[in-house]
Amino acid sequence: MTPQDHYTLSDYDLAVEAIRARTSVKPKVGLILGSGLGALAECIENADYIPYNEILRFPQSEVAGHRNRFVAGTLEGVPILAMQGRVHYYEGYSMQAVTFPIRVMQRIGVKILIVTNAAGGLNPAFSAGDLMLITDHINFMGMAGIHPLVGRNDPNLGERFLDMSDAYDPQLCQLARQAAQAQGIVLREGVYIGLSGPSFETPAEVRMLQRLGADAVGMSTVGEVTVARHGGIRVLGFSGITNMLVKGEQSGQAVSHADVLSIGRDVIAPKLEKLVRAVLRALRD
Ligand code: HPA
Repeated sequence: MTPQDHYTLSDYDLAVEAIRARTSVKPKVGLILGSGLGALAECIENADYIPYNEILRFPQSEVAGHRNRFVAGTLEGVPILAMQGRVHYYEGYSMQAVTFPIRVMQRIGVKILIVTNAAGGLNPAFSAGDLMLITDHINFMGMAGIHPLVGRNDPNLGERFLDMSDAYDPQLCQLARQAAQAQGIVLREGVYIGLSGPSFETPAEVRMLQRLGADAVGMSTVGEVTVARHGGIRVLGFSGITNMLVKGEQSGQAVSHADVLSIGRDVIAPKLEKLVRAVLRALRD
């Protein structure tokens, strides 16, 4: 894969056809499950599984903790299309490839995207194991030109110049706050900054990111959310804080992908499941 990858409407629609051939579910909600957070897809009822490698041009992840399949079914009575695993820019895919699944969701009729990720904590008030509602993001990659909407704009998909003032839907954020409170889940809030990775941040970078106004940092999400908004999909986002990059005045704590996965799986995924279920019930009612 190269940054020159180009997809057209017919690529998206072929992928939609491939999914429709494997499931009769008509998803209204899309769910992206980040590193260590894939377990939620196991709760989906009447599930149909569609491996990404059965869909033409669909990018595959080689990163541990990503299962590379769609799970279509219902959760709390809501028809849903979940992604167990996603690809990242650092795997060598273009941003167009990274966001290909979002276009497929758009063309299949998804109206709301719930996006999740594993992230490092920059806000010293946070702790590892916290769940953070993403209220806004900084597309650091995008600002450097690694942006999924660079290139020709297809007006069938969205507008050339995209408003991002309410990227994370205020109404859905409010619904998530209420759901968290009702479930007794502590829900942090903050700004997610998306970097390319794959290296974790140096202490100097951590200080810089804090000064830029970010509360959590990760290697995904910003491109996907941008494309979802371009396609008119409303977005709700959660970061699982798998590790803290700062503790008070101290910084530069070692991070490992194995820790990211285990905290995600053991501490964050159970809370996320409760919260997403409560949000879906509220959407259904
Ligand atoms: N930095 C960037 N991405 C991450 C981190 C981190 O500390 N933890 C999980 N994803």
